[in-house]
Amino acid sequence: FFGQPWVFVRGVPAMKFLPPEGPPEIAFAGRSNVGKSSLINALLAQKGLARTSNTPGRTQELNFFVPDGYGGETAELPPIAVVDMPGYGYAKAPKDHVDAWTKLVFSYLRGRASLKRVFLLIDARHGIKKNDEEVMGLLDKAAVSYQIVLTKTDKIKATGVPKLIEATALGIKRHPAAFPRILSTSSEKGVGLDELKAEIAALA
Ligand code: GTP
Ligand code: MG
Repeated sequence: FFGQPWVFVRGVPAMKFLPPEGPPEIAFAGRSNVGKSSLINALLAQKGLARTSNTPGRTQELNFFVPDGYGGETAELPPIAVVDMPGYGYAKAPKDHVDAWTKLVFSYLRGRASLKRVFLLIDARHGIKKNDEEVMGLLDKAAVSYQIVLTKTDKIKATGVPKLIEATALGIKRHPAAFPRILSTSSEKGVGLDELKAEIAALA
């Protein structure tokens, strides 16, 4: 399903608007501005599919993307859905909005049977922060499998990447639901996308 067109199917502003449980869902989570939407676009090779912005707080709903050609007359379910999520942490938006979408993100991560893997994106320049730890704790508790993806590696020295991976691996050791393999990516330079695709393909 990579290499074929994907489409946006639904923006979910609250839990009650979620589609029925069904095909495996793969969610991209992380702090605001970490590069979630950009990575989805790079992965699916469709610029502008997920909206991106320089301003933290761009994505404000759970946005569902599926390979094109499902639904309609046959009502055939897609083999997989990719979910772009609002970020957590600082965002340039009214506080009540941020509170509402943060609650939505946490509820979805905790309580969705179709959710097969969370890619937890970490900015290569900043590493794991306190609110990332909080989300990791929540996923551990809910026994939802998650995998760390370092983003924006084009912004750090190439020689720093192995060290960063090592340090991050150490940081996730005591997290039972964390997948041990850490991915390193740059949406800008197209780095690490094949590895990420392979991980996703194995889940569909
Ligand atoms: P929210 O939806 O606001 O939570 O943000 P997001 O995590 O979806 O981030 P988004 O993809 O909108 O990207 C945020 C900013 O980072 C944009 O200005 C992107 O161009 C930039 N960015 C994303 N990925 C990369 C990357 O791999 N390298 C560089 N240099 N910049 C990137
Ligand atoms: Mg976004």
